[in-house]
Amino acid sequence: GKVAVLLGGSSTEREVSLMSGAGVLEALQGQGVDAHAFDPAEKPLSALKEEGFDRAFLILHGGQGEDGTIQGALEFMGIPYTGCGVMASAIGMDKWRTKLMWQAAGLPVPEYELLTAQSDFAAVAARLGLPLFVKPANGGSSVGVTKCKSAADIEAAYREAAKFDPLVLAEKAVLGGEYSCAVLDGRALATVKIEPATEFYDFDAKYFRDDTVYRCPGLLGIKEAEARQLAEQAFRVLGATGWARIDFLMDENDGIFLLEPNTAPGMTSHSLFPMCARDAGISYEELVVKILATTLS
Ligand code: DAL
Ligand code: MG
Repeated sequence: GKVAVLLGGSSTEREVSLMSGAGVLEALQGQGVDAHAFDPAEKPLSALKEEGFDRAFLILHGGQGEDGTIQGALEFMGIPYTGCGVMASAIGMDKWRTKLMWQAAGLPVPEYELLTAQSDFAAVAARLGLPLFVKPANGGSSVGVTKCKSAADIEAAYREAAKFDPLVLAEKAVLGGEYSCAVLDGRALATVKIEPATEFYDFDAKYFRDDTVYRCPGLLGIKEAEARQLAEQAFRVLGATGWARIDFLMDENDGIFLLEPNTAPGMTSHSLFPMCARDAGISYEELVVKILATTLS
């Protein structure tokens, strides 16, 4: 059949999605799949039917592309798509509700609080410790995220995050290391450890800098197994399907804390999912074909 690679969109991660989508499109076409780019920011989704597409590879990041909205529209149109369904996408885009679900299932998450303009920022800093992270509940690629080293930084960080979502979180910094784990069809492929040269793994480090060090697999032995198992549980509790990447942190005592799911993970040349897949013996080209195949399950 004819496959639409849904890319671009109108979220803050549009540019990232265009990069991811270009990679996916080239890989699918290179394997002989009749795949075409389709940008929902440029034409209505209803054109998918008119143009004869019968499957969608969803590589929109953030906003309506990753929050269940487009997933619902595709369900309604009867077009199978890659990745998570409506519920897992909607919850997964909301860092607060995801934490609530994971906590309810007994999975470890870093301590956090919701911030409002009226919050006593000094008291928040005293409770969570410094540094701490301030982030919009809804977003991706670290857009709107600030690492606060002093209580005096929190108010400005709150205002920055609130530009992207009225729901803002303050999160305890867990400083043993940043990691991610790729999960394909419910099975963890590998973890990757991220060693940014910047203060944290921010937008620039994610896509443009070449001084971030990635180690894959990120952990060794028993911790690697434990992290993979936690990522698989996090995937299942969220109700994820197809593929998703679970970000997590480790503290100084090797404790693992789940950070967030990414239900339409980046597929750029710098992205983590393809790195983890490669460690599992799956090339980028094989990976996109495997992800596309999940539309049929
Ligand atoms: N939100 C970006 C695309 C990622 O998680 O890879
Ligand atoms: Mg994310």
